Amino acid sequence: MGTALITGATAGIGLEIAWQLAQAHHDLVVVARDEDRLNQVATELHQLAGVGVQVLPADLSAAAGRRAVADRLRQSQEQAADATPAATPASSGAGGRGPRTAAQVAVRPVDLLVNNAGFAVGQPFASGSIEQERRALDVMVGAVMELTHAAVPGMVERGHGAVLNIASVTALTAMGTYAAHKAWVRTFTEGLASELRGTGVTATVVNPGLTHSEFHARAGMEEGAWPGIAWLRAEDVACEALAAVRRGQVICTPSARYQAVNAALRLSPRWLVRRVAGHASVRTRY
Ligand SMILES: NC(=O)c1ccc[n+]([C@@H]2O[C@H](COP(=O)([O-])OP(=O)(O)OC[C@H]3O[C@@H](n4cnc5c(N)ncnc54)[C@H](OP(=O)(O)O)[C@@H]3O)[C@@H](O)[C@H]2O)c1
Repeated sequence: MGTALITGATAGIGLEIAWQLAQAHHDLVVVARDEDRLNQVATELHQLAGVGVQVLPADLSAAAGRRAVADRLRQSQEQAADATPAATPASSGAGGRGPRTAAQVAVRPVDLLVNNAGFAVGQPFASGSIEQERRALDVMVGAVMELTHAAVPGMVERGHGAVLNIASVTALTAMGTYAAHKAWVRTFTEGLASELRGTGVTATVVNPGLTHSEFHARAGMEEGAWPGIAWLRAEDVACEALAAVRRGQVICTPSARYQAVNAALRLSPRWLVRRVAGHASVRTRY
């Protein structure tokens, strides 16, 4: 089985993706800022799902954090091959009797990059802080671009691999800079998928609607402000996202409800989208 690197793997959609990949016997590299939480997640994945997990703490809003993760993604096949003989058959998951150790995972090339980390900007643009805008842009656009750029050449060289980017249904709206970042992720992924056609490497973008996670509480929003019907479960979003990756599907919008929302957004005149999105942005503070 392969190795997947997931950003934002300690909560919500990223944590669910981690568990579902672990259940499918993929080794993992988990990235987030909170190191204690990363270690706890890694221990549970290792003990309960029997996979190898490398913990890579990094703040993706900082250049040094993005560089550390990019360096890990550039791990070449040659380096991995050099390191493989050191692993004893008994301790090397695939073909051995136990899961790989973190050190063994740390030298394996990444076959699946999941760009998932993100957060609500949580302020109006004009009166908000430019530092917060910069952090959001760096995590939801800068990191997606830099990590994908680091990962893809090795995947192409090896003739297989996948990039999974988490955007949002808001990508088709006009809900502040958050929607602009997610529109970038969506368009970027479509372009990348076209560029990579025939290489054995795929790119998939997922556009979740409202999903139960820590996302809203972190931005001081109440989940109760929206009706129950509007909510998706993170496990369902993760499941649909990974199924789309397996099919090599470029765009995935989880749930029939949000596929209908997506279709309505595409067909509506932009003045109407702006009007509705304007009301929604005041309420959501995305
Ligand atoms: N929930 C929704 O309704 C919804 C809808 C559409 C799209 N999305 C998108 O789905 C993705 C996942 O969101 P979620 O709902 O699962 O959020 P979540 O539950 O709040 O989880 C966010 C994850 O990202 C990590 N993270 C945040 N800032 C980071 C940074 N600067 N550097 C590294 N890691 C960072 C967090 O860990 P640390 O705090 O330890 O760093 C955490 O692991 C995001 O891209 C979000 O925009 C969410």
